[in-house]
Amino acid sequence: MAYSNPSPSSRFIITKNSQLNAKNMKRRSTEDNSSFAKKQKIAQQRKSLPIASVEKRILEEVKMNDTLIIVGETGSGKTTQLPQFLFNGGFCRDGRVIGITQPRRVAAVTVAKRVAEECDVELGQKVGYSVRFDDMTSSSTRIKYMTDGLLLREALLDPFLSRYSVIIVDEAHERTVHTDVLLGLLKNVQKARSISTCKESILEGRKKANNSAALKKEINAQCHILLKPCQGSKLSPLKLIIMSASLDARGFSEYFGGAKAVHIQGRQHPVDIFYTHHVEQDYIDAALITILQIHLEEGSGDMLVFLTGQDDIESLQRLIQERVRQLPEGSQKLLIVPIFSSLPSEIQMKVFKPAPHGFRKVILATNIAETSITIPGIKYVIDPGLVKTRSYDPCTRMESLKIVPTSKAQALQRSGRAGREGAGKCFRLYQESEFAKLADSATPEIKRLNLSNVILQLKALGVDDITEFDLMEKLSMRAIEKSLEELILLGALTADKKLSNPVGHQMARFPLEPIYSKALIVASEFNCLEEMLITVAMLLVDSMFYAPREKWEEARDKWKCFSHVEGDHLTLVNVYRASAESLEKSRLAGSKEKTAETILRKWCKENFINYSSLRHARDIHSQIQGHVEQMGLRISSCGDDMLQFRRCLTASFFLKVALKQPDGSYRTFDSSQVVQIHPTSVFFRTKKPECVVFNELIRTERNYIRDITRIDPAWIPELAPQYCSTQS
Ligand code: CDP
Ligand code: MG
Repeated sequence: MAYSNPSPSSRFIITKNSQLNAKNMKRRSTEDNSSFAKKQKIAQQRKSLPIASVEKRILEEVKMNDTLIIVGETGSGKTTQLPQFLFNGGFCRDGRVIGITQPRRVAAVTVAKRVAEECDVELGQKVGYSVRFDDMTSSSTRIKYMTDGLLLREALLDPFLSRYSVIIVDEAHERTVHTDVLLGLLKNVQKARSISTCKESILEGRKKANNSAALKKEINAQCHILLKPCQGSKLSPLKLIIMSASLDARGFSEYFGGAKAVHIQGRQHPVDIFYTHHVEQDYIDAALITILQIHLEEGSGDMLVFLTGQDDIESLQRLIQERVRQLPEGSQKLLIVPIFSSLPSEIQMKVFKPAPHGFRKVILATNIAETSITIPGIKYVIDPGLVKTRSYDPCTRMESLKIVPTSKAQALQRSGRAGREGAGKCFRLYQESEFAKLADSATPEIKRLNLSNVILQLKALGVDDITEFDLMEKLSMRAIEKSLEELILLGALTADKKLSNPVGHQMARFPLEPIYSKALIVASEFNCLEEMLITVAMLLVDSMFYAPREKWEEARDKWKCFSHVEGDHLTLVNVYRASAESLEKSRLAGSKEKTAETILRKWCKENFINYSSLRHARDIHSQIQGHVEQMGLRISSCGDDMLQFRRCLTASFFLKVALKQPDGSYRTFDSSQVVQIHPTSVFFRTKKPECVVFNELIRTERNYIRDITRIDPAWIPELAPQYCSTQS
């Protein structure tokens, strides 16, 4: 592949007892030395971060301002250092906690681990993390990393977030739905807590009586939170810090009534940007060639490749592994390290480890490596300029996953990763003329996602009218109305838009999209909650089936054993159960393999199942099972009566029904979209059912429906009469 000026290369080689004690003591002392050296290295690294020189100033600003915006280049030390500064500055006195929210779970987990290491404490003690389906905190946790979604859920139980002295909303520039809602909520909590402090003062007679009425009025007008639990309790004001890697802090500052913004000077080295001469048809192939080109022709330094998701990452990983075998003998080796959200966390941590001697590290990442995590040692960035995003069309009520061009801001963030430690190079796999056409920044999620979950959460928090909730973005009335309608159809809201009892309250307690919560609640009535728990867990993770191209035939034979005539949901249940059975059998047989992990890994390899997806699904399963049990829902199995399970899917997924057309394509019942069965479905090659429910609609060059189960159309009026009456 050739790059436009300045071209790094035009040439292409590759295309497509006492003694024992003494020994032990020696080893121990070496270990002590290495741990001491490690600590020293960490201390040195911390000192050299740009944020280190402004510790005092930042602490003063936090003390003086209730809300502060901190803007700083990625890698300047905001996420790892600031909470430690605050801890040392006394913000955790009396057992109070510093909460740091992240849009991505990977960032919350990896950063917490790093900070625990920096503080030389065990993870889960002073420093911990809590993300959906994984909690590593204890009563001694004082610095708590978490996802923004998780803090929102905490607010359901503790509306004043009373244990927190400071909340840091990190990566605010990402503008996820959760971040936007959280900012609105925190604004209210902050007001309520400062008013509660004032109320204390009133009680203590320090305020004039006539202010009390005004305060009360303000509380009623501005706080959507019931203040009852707060009366009489002493709550300190909540400090709020908004952190962002984007240089434009104006939006946040205006939203927080002119809050002060502090800029941390980063150290960015020059990065040469290269564009391709021609349009690249296949970005995976283009990335592969570029990796090999850099490896053979450029100097030392690790590479970071931005891909759209797990599927891309895994296929590129396979391709590289095939190609490196053809590299000239004696050349440096490549160490491929993937990083994406659903990867088990101990594997995620590999990304931060330096490559062993003689290896060059190639990190294959999703956009998580743009700003949320900083990986040392990167000198080359390869950016195909694409990102996978979810979007939702309220008119057709269809959510879709699309691969779209990044924004200019994202492209700049990506190239910036190459210049953290020295001059670097960024290879954009598109033409220079394309860059100019990119949008300046991505549309905030809240403007392009289904609002049902947000509305449900806000209702549960006592916000009755979402149009009155103070958000950074004005929401479209149409989107709000459609989401309200959906929640009414799902039975979460009553006809007058109040949270229904018990279904709405139960649904709001699940950390899931409303449609999945509904499926679980209904499943307990249909006696198939055991199967539905597995189904939901399996639907929430990335693709389960995986095989290298050359083993495709063999893999297909294996997968046939799992496939269920009624569709993909039950096929997933079969996979899950088969894996659990093999685990049980190995245990009973006293298998040599000691851990569940090794047994499962082996089973996955033999059956061409993606181990990381399966493991993630198992974690999710146990967590949701916990929620279900807490709610007192009855977990039972429908046994061989799969009719019950399919009827249950109909009763909850009725908004996602498609009917077969004479030409073999399908048409969605709700919005009359023409869709095709996805090639991964069991129905792709078999006789196509007349009517199906599906989990997801993916829009690429065609509209595909994925995860499909056969149903009887006659069940819809019976099981979802409320929906059918709106259709006629
Ligand atoms: O938040 P910000 O982007 O400003 O920086 P950070 O995440 O606090 O990272 C500061 C430094 O810690 C970087 O140099 C990272 O390389 C390092 N770090 C690390 O080595 N391992 C991690 N898990 C996280 C950060
Ligand atoms: Mg950060």
